[in-house]
Amino acid sequence: MPAISTSAPAKTILFGEHAVVYGHPSIAIPISSLCAKVIIQPSITTNASIAILKNKAGDEEYKISALPENSLTRGAISEFEKAVGQPLPPFIVTISSHIPIAAGLGSSASVAVAIMRALAGFIGMNLSDAEISAIAFQSEKIQHGSPSGIDNSVVSFEKPVFFKKGFPLEFLALGKALHFILADSGERALTKDVVAAVRESRLAKPAKINMLLSKIGDLSTQAKSLIASGNAFALGKLMTENHAHLKDLGVSTITLDKLTESALQSGAFGAKLCGGGRGGFMVAICKAQYQKKITDELEKISPHVISFKLKEEN
Ligand code: MEV
Repeated sequence: MPAISTSAPAKTILFGEHAVVYGHPSIAIPISSLCAKVIIQPSITTNASIAILKNKAGDEEYKISALPENSLTRGAISEFEKAVGQPLPPFIVTISSHIPIAAGLGSSASVAVAIMRALAGFIGMNLSDAEISAIAFQSEKIQHGSPSGIDNSVVSFEKPVFFKKGFPLEFLALGKALHFILADSGERALTKDVVAAVRESRLAKPAKINMLLSKIGDLSTQAKSLIASGNAFALGKLMTENHAHLKDLGVSTITLDKLTESALQSGAFGAKLCGGGRGGFMVAICKAQYQKKITDELEKISPHVISFKLKEEN
């Protein structure tokens, strides 16, 4: 049997992180230039399935049964096995990802989706994007506790999405190409910990936190039609507003604030932290002509700056 190769993109949330956990809407987009790759082949020399994790420092090889049950790889494989209701023949899975971990870019969802697509191909099962997303949601629960479901959705479908828990997923067609820049704060925080911190703040100050969460959700609703018209200027204003609310929510950091300031001062239409926060990346939206200037400025304070373009719908 030939090896099966799959990949899944990173993502960034443009509007609505944290608020989405409490039933408010959120908008996320895929980052196709940044992805996780998986190769699966049958294991012919041993009965044990093996995972090879490719890192900058070299390859790490593990028996899957020896990995912790809550590890991303083992969790994704066992959720897949549970969902399809059949044991998998022994295999070797090789995982390589360029997506920074615990940085707000959907690394766990991307790796899980790529593993599940590869496993589906390995056992000759044709699963839809919606089915893959539903299984990846189960593995996201192992990683993040009570995820909203937006990460597995945007990563599985690889399309801009308008997501509200309990409502059908909406795909957003892009009126014009949009240009973005991501900049790493160099800080890392687990989404699960930051979501738990927001939950505690909400218990301590329900009126203040609920007001912030619904203001954030309203921004997603306002942004929806701006995505359709490709109005980068207006989207930018709303992104900066979203950042201010996330800051009030207590999930920004001094570095993330500096990165957003730098992007705005060098010409971005708007900028905000993305994902859980307390570290990770900032995302800015700008005119294509400003990408170089903004990148040059951000590189003075960020160890990793990435620009990408979201193409319009043809
Ligand atoms: C997801 O990338 C970020 C949060 O909104 C958590 C979630 O939606 O599960 C903070």
